[in-house]
Amino acid sequence: MFEHELDRAMAQATVPIVEEQIGFWWERRHTRESIAWLPNSGSSRIALLPLRDGNCGWTEFPDDSNLLEAGNFGRESDVKCNNILEAMGNTPLIRLNRVTKGLPAEIYVKADYLNPGGSVKDRIGVWMIDEAERKGLLKPGGTIIEGTSGNTGVGLALVAAVRGYKVVFTITDKQSREKIDLLKAFGAEVIVCPTAVEPEDPHSYYSVAKKLAREIPNAFYPNQYENPMNPEAHYRTTGPEIWKDSDGKITHFICGMGTGGTISGAGRFLKEQNPQVKIIGVDPVGSLYYEYAKSGKIGKARTYVVEGIGEDIFPGTMDFKIVDDVLQVSDEECFVWARRLAKREGIFTGGSGGGCISVALRLAKDCKQDDLIVALLPDTGSRYLSKIFNDGWMREHGYADSEVTLTAADVIRVKYQNGKTRNPITVGPNQTVFHALSIMQQQDISQLPVFEGDESIGTVFEDQILNLALQGKELRKLIVREVMGAAMPQVPSNAPVERVTHILSHESPAVFVEMENGKLEVLTKFDLMDTIAGLVGQVR
Ligand SMILES: Cc1ncc(COP(=O)(O)O)c(C=O)c1O
Repeated sequence: MFEHELDRAMAQATVPIVEEQIGFWWERRHTRESIAWLPNSGSSRIALLPLRDGNCGWTEFPDDSNLLEAGNFGRESDVKCNNILEAMGNTPLIRLNRVTKGLPAEIYVKADYLNPGGSVKDRIGVWMIDEAERKGLLKPGGTIIEGTSGNTGVGLALVAAVRGYKVVFTITDKQSREKIDLLKAFGAEVIVCPTAVEPEDPHSYYSVAKKLAREIPNAFYPNQYENPMNPEAHYRTTGPEIWKDSDGKITHFICGMGTGGTISGAGRFLKEQNPQVKIIGVDPVGSLYYEYAKSGKIGKARTYVVEGIGEDIFPGTMDFKIVDDVLQVSDEECFVWARRLAKREGIFTGGSGGGCISVALRLAKDCKQDDLIVALLPDTGSRYLSKIFNDGWMREHGYADSEVTLTAADVIRVKYQNGKTRNPITVGPNQTVFHALSIMQQQDISQLPVFEGDESIGTVFEDQILNLALQGKELRKLIVREVMGAAMPQVPSNAPVERVTHILSHESPAVFVEMENGKLEVLTKFDLMDTIAGLVGQVR
């Protein structure tokens, strides 16, 4: 059975697991449960397995495919690891209890933020580097260079620290300060590149990483966007873990899509076990994925704030064939749900995890009693302490996280009840400034929207007109178009009242609320003060 006596000797002895010593003869493989070492040169019918005492033993199995069934070995709760890399994976599946009250289906989270580097990306760091070493693409003392939103960097930096490689990362300037500091803590060099440039731009973080990889000698560029080991890591570990821990009962897998590695790899494994499992992608408004999945069209990407999910490119690691549906999330719902999850379930994840929970809760409403939803939580909330979990930051950006969710339409409703609403009073762009001033005085208002047909194109303000008069300008000769400022900001009827408050204090003294019937209603600071006290009482 053994082609090489050496294989036999190593397999039968219990030897300490030291990668450098056995890596030459043995190939590292991840199984459903753990890590196994297969002989590179000899028989493929034995596997060398890590034991809990730090030594290793061996097992026989009929062929390579059965390795997954070879038994429950390796890491257990009291595991002793030979290095931090062995502590990766096997993250728990945790049931949500409070936020799911009254819903027919159960929601579990796959808590990948509990990986040693704090994210799901630990998994692909090891897999991409193992493969590069096997293929001779990365040699001792080499440099790993990657464009990363932060988490893949940490995964790679952990491998580099354990195995003695240098690391350089390019990162976009929208990433949180904590992520950059974290990469530096592991000894990485970090180059911050602009977010608001096209991917092909020479300053984009993709382009800079590629250029450095060409220029630095003995450099390896894992390129998580095209590296098949990215989805493979999830096919071999994340997917099997979820299948096993849900006892094969999972009906929906909900997962954010960045490179697409997680959803494509874990999703493929789950579909192979049961083709009925629905694989649902979560995509932020502004990313290209949603429109592409729905219509096959490549739209125009817009910037959004949530980190790690959504793309302005189509990576080779994203496999749309296994995705059954894609649901969109706003930045705000990602952040609000990340905060609620911490407060109500003690689960501390970032915005992309919050987005997955928001989608899981939306879906759960229409699920059956025995449906079992698994939502992936990619990274830890501690990466976002200065953003999502900072009340000041949330307020400044107009994100609302209140228990009583008042909307702009609620305020308008109370205005109606108080008999205060009237059709917006407007002025045309070619009317005189004097005319505009007379309207404001007659109606006792201090700003006037300018409309051209149905379109709101500007605003004139009482203060501004008085200043013009003081400067000696002839108000009967000036027309509105010449002096008007920007159009009033517009919010949808379901905008939280906190967003309206933010606009009123920072941007404009009045906003338009676009009601469900398409009519525009004006909301001012005065309206808010006038209505809000009574309104809170009513809604509570
Ligand atoms: C916070 C966060 N969420 C989600 C993802 C998406 O995972 P994937 O790239 O496997 O699609 C990433 C990827 O970088 C991430 O950093």
